[in-house]
Amino acid sequence: MANESIRNMLDRPEAGGPGVVQGWLRSVRHGKGVSFLDVSDGSCLAGMQVVADPGTEGFESVVRGLGTGSAIRAEGEVVESPGKGQRYELHASRVVLVGEAGADYPLQKKRHGFEFLRSIAHLRPRTNTLGAVLRVRNAASMAIHDFFQREGFFYLHTPIITASDAEGAGEMFRVTTLPEEDPPRDAEGRVDPSRDFFGRPTFLTVSGQLEAEIGALALSRVYTFGPTFRAENSNTARHLAEFWMVEPEVAFCDLGGLADLAERFLKSVFGDVLDRCEDDMAFFEKRIESEAITRMKRVIEEPFERIPYREVVSILEKSGQDFDFPVGFGLDLQSEHERWLTEQHVGRPVVVTDWPASIKAFYMYRNDDDETVAAMDVLVGGVGEIIGGSQREHRLPILEETIRAQGLEPDAYWWYLDLRRFGSVPHAGFGLGFERLVQFMTGMANIRDVAPFPRAPGLVEF
Ligand code: 4AD
Ligand code: MG
Repeated sequence: MANESIRNMLDRPEAGGPGVVQGWLRSVRHGKGVSFLDVSDGSCLAGMQVVADPGTEGFESVVRGLGTGSAIRAEGEVVESPGKGQRYELHASRVVLVGEAGADYPLQKKRHGFEFLRSIAHLRPRTNTLGAVLRVRNAASMAIHDFFQREGFFYLHTPIITASDAEGAGEMFRVTTLPEEDPPRDAEGRVDPSRDFFGRPTFLTVSGQLEAEIGALALSRVYTFGPTFRAENSNTARHLAEFWMVEPEVAFCDLGGLADLAERFLKSVFGDVLDRCEDDMAFFEKRIESEAITRMKRVIEEPFERIPYREVVSILEKSGQDFDFPVGFGLDLQSEHERWLTEQHVGRPVVVTDWPASIKAFYMYRNDDDETVAAMDVLVGGVGEIIGGSQREHRLPILEETIRAQGLEPDAYWWYLDLRRFGSVPHAGFGLGFERLVQFMTGMANIRDVAPFPRAPGLVEF
């Protein structure tokens, strides 16, 4: 018999006909002369109820001894379900035990705390919540590719191992094959990177942006979508040491065009995910965040607000709020400021533009006031900063000057500077933190619960 997922089975136009269900038991109920098996194969939030009775082959030998977590295969007939909440069920003619889970199976029918589930990350995809998260991640990934492909962007594969610090912030993980014991040393006794694999210090990338700029200045519109790494020691609910970033880069584009792109992009992705993950999103709205769907719909329907950083500072100063962190020109916005602004003050996504040059990366376009750069952060409720981007400095002398002023070495960025020598054009791009996007959509409070295998300080087991 052909292999049919539960999702497809539930999509059948009508009941009747044979069916095979293969999956893991979420719960088992044994009644008098009948057993109800709730089987999930992860293809959708719903499981399939398998009903077995003494006429079922394996009823005594298999079914009556089954417990949660075991893997089974059930064959039988797909019939209308008299029970509430499910369309069909399977009346089993035969049940086979494929893989037993003993009584020490750690997931039981009751709700488990997310912190506990993190300690069994090899099993948590079998829970409703993590299963739904993984399906939403999948749908969002496809929606992202669909959007950019539709808009004429080319998917560029930027490297993961790099010799340059794209953010200039020094938060990079070192990549080395030098021996731990007795590595080669230079004349001063320091470990000698020239004898390392690449002949120089190398790192895991913090962003694909610099290479995306190479792509944009040849193909005009490109995007990257890949893992990025930050060795910042942040133990917060919205920081990971390894996360996925989506980074479009557009030639002949300024900050206004970039903000338009970001708005179209988020609206399109949210619309697709609501379409494709109806059941999962309904689950998040019921169990995790009662506003999950409403707030996505509001993002789709309402225009984003654009406010220059300077004005944001004055709004925050006059807010009368008792913030933990200080507010003032030249200070970065903290999550509490971001959230108050977008959730309480504006009530819609906010694009904060034109930030002080002193707190932003070296590559951003310097505005005429010589004090701010053409940067933007897109803020949304619950999460705060979801996108960071900018118009890029395409004028060679200014870029060189900023690189020096930030204590970086222009030679290390020679090819990046070359792009400003040979056919330089205004261009712009942004980075979307994929896990923060999933956090916003699902309402999950902790970013560690929207990544299948979260990486954070001290967290690397799975
Ligand atoms: O604002 P960031 O640092 O911008 C860049 O890296 C630019 N090079 C992007 C570009 O212009 N191409 O990071 C972009 C986004 C943030 O807005 C946030 O959503 C996410 O990446 N992000 C993180 N997500 C999870 N954990 C972390 N430690 C993150 N750091 C940034
Ligand atoms: Mg940022």
